[in-house]
Parts: sequence; C-alpha cells; structure tokens
Amino acid sequence: MKNFTHEWIEKNPWLLIGLVILVISVGGLVEIVPLFFQRSTTEPVAGLAPYSPLRLAGRDVYIREGCYNCHSQMIRPFRAETERYGHYSVAGEFVYDHPFQWGSKRTGPDLARVGGRYSDEWHRTHLDNPRDVVPESNMPGYPWLARTGLDPAEIVPKMRAMQLLAVPYSEKDVTDAPAQLAGKTEQDALVAYLQGLGTQIKKRN
Ligand code: HEC
Repeated sequence: MKNFTHEWIEKNPWLLIGLVILVISVGGLVEIVPLFFQRSTTEPVAGLAPYSPLRLAGRDVYIREGCYNCHSQMIRPFRAETERYGHYSVAGEFVYDHPFQWGSKRTGPDLARVGGRYSDEWHRTHLDNPRDVVPESNMPGYPWLARTGLDPAEIVPKMRAMQLLAVPYSEKDVTDAPAQLAGKTEQDALVAYLQGLGTQIKKRN
C-alpha cells in the first residue's frame, strides 16, 4: 500500500482530477449557496415593483430579438463604468428578472440605466432605424415592432409563470393584465421596458 502523499496524488492523473473536482465543487458551493439566502441579494431595492404587464411583454420582445447579444445590463463598480452609465448595479435590482439580462457582450452600450435617458420618441425612431438618430450606429433596425400588435391573452400564462418564480403578482394583477395590452404594439412594450430600466437607483448626482 503506497503512502497517500502529495507526490503520489500528483502522479495519478485520475485521482488528481477527482480531487480537483471535489475541491472546486466544495469551494463553489460555499461561495454560491449563501447568496440564495442573503438578504442583500434576495431583497428588492426600495421602490422596485414587479414589471407591469406592458413592460413584461416588452422584456420578452427584448429577449426574442436577441438585444442581449449586443447589450449588457450590468454596470460594474469601476469608475470608468459609473462615470459613463451611472450607479453600479446591485443585486436587489434584479430580483424580479427571470431570467437575468446581465449579458457579457457590449457591442452597444450597457442598458442597465437607460431608463429616462431619452424620450419615448427617440426610442421609437432609434428602433425603427438607429441611423436616423445616431448616424454612425451599426445597430440593426427593428421596424416591424411598430407594426406588430401584442396578443393580450398571451400575458396571462407569462404572469402565472412569474408567480411560480415568486414574483408577487396578485390575482387581480393577472386578470386585469390583458386589458392593459389591448391595442398596444410590440414597440410600445419594448419602449416601456427600456424606459423603466435601472430607474430605482438615481443615475448620477
Ligand atoms: C448588432 C448589435 C446590436 C443589437 C443586436 C442591438 N443593438 Fe442596440 N445598440 C448597438 C450599438 C452599437 C449602439 C450604439 C449606437 C446607437 O445608439 O445606435 C446601440 C444603442 C442602443 C441604445 C441606446 C443606448 C444609449 O445609452 O445610448 C438602446 C436603447 C438600444 N441600443 C436598444 C437595443 C434594443 C432594444 C435591441 C433589440 C431590439 C438592440 N439594441 C439590439 C448595437 C446593437
């Protein structure tokens, strides 16, 4: 029987791999599991409300169109970021986001605090054809969003799914939702979504 020494472990690749995986798993669990129970990561920041039905529908348009491929929604706590985008993102801002839209690719600017930065009209023009407002933009246009109506009935199962994920929608919120979407376009929904992003925390003093 060989001694269970460091040298012996290093000379047995499979044993080494097994032990490395074990160490990383335990280390990972110790780091990650407490986050699910810490108040600072599970409590919404003051003033954060679940998405209104229109914004929730807009969020789905954002995901469907793949905006996250070019835009992050996560301002890191570095000076270069906070000077440009505003207050860094905090966990409590995202408790009603299922799934998160943090992203990691920034072909375009971070959108975590874009809410209120431009007018609704600016967003509409920009979504129809970005080059009408930002001539050098390489963002694609999404002109069909303004022509495509929302299906009000679709919001009910979406809100029910959010309820399952502990988003506190009341029964009345869900039953009232379809009426709020009547006559709205996908562009209306997306603009409403964008205009609320990051507005719970003041942008810059
Ligand atoms: C191919 C990459 C790409 C995709 C996909 C994309 N964008 Fe952009 N976006 C950009 C670039 C680049 C800019 C900066 C130039 C400009 O303002 O048009 C930008 C700018 C923006 C801005 C202005 C941000 C600011 O702070 O000035 C908003 C809002 C925006 N995009 C929303 C969206 C939405 C919503 C979608 C999905 C429907 C989307 N983008 C998809 C690349 C992209």
